[in-house]
Amino acid sequence: MAFYDSQLDVLYSSAQLQARIAELGAAITADYAGQELVAVGVLKGSVVFFSDLIRQIDLPLATDFLGLSSYGSGTETSGVVRITSDLSRPIEGKHVLVVEDIVDTGLTMQFLIENLSTRKPASVKVCTLLEKPSRARVQVPIHYKGFVIPDAFVVGYGLDFDEKLRNVPFVGVMRR
Ligand code: IMP
Ligand code: MG
Repeated sequence: MAFYDSQLDVLYSSAQLQARIAELGAAITADYAGQELVAVGVLKGSVVFFSDLIRQIDLPLATDFLGLSSYGSGTETSGVVRITSDLSRPIEGKHVLVVEDIVDTGLTMQFLIENLSTRKPASVKVCTLLEKPSRARVQVPIHYKGFVIPDAFVVGYGLDFDEKLRNVPFVGVMRR
């Protein structure tokens, strides 16, 4: 018995996640052939996905991270986003791949794409593990997505509830 067994139902198992991430990595490898890219992980939710994804990309790449927080409370973003920890290097002239855990309302990603674009990168694309289109408030371009999910609050594989459950090895839904 793991500590989370009585709390969670499995939505995507570790094996399902790895199989899909291998496909995403292959698509990214093909699309960026002959180019170098900078993979930018959005802290903290994307770190588990990020670490698996970059090992499926067969290209020279650099990594960087960016911390964001949105004002507001509970499980809902307010849309007022702020950078709490910035990239360590300039991205001017670079091909940037933003790696996110989940696009929910889209407000966080909209802010991030706009912000990064002002730094004159060669390109900016988005790779998210999960998308919840039923809650979208703005349309943001998502070039690579792992799974489209229904409107449920998911945890595990990097995603948290109140900073916990990020270490669960699968994507799960909390039992009521
Ligand atoms: P958005 O700005 O509404 O798209 O929110 C994006 C952020 O909210 C994600 O990067 C997550 O950190 C968080 N989030 C949204 N939905 C969930 C969820 O179901 N579980 C855990 N975190 C979530
Ligand atoms: Mg996040």
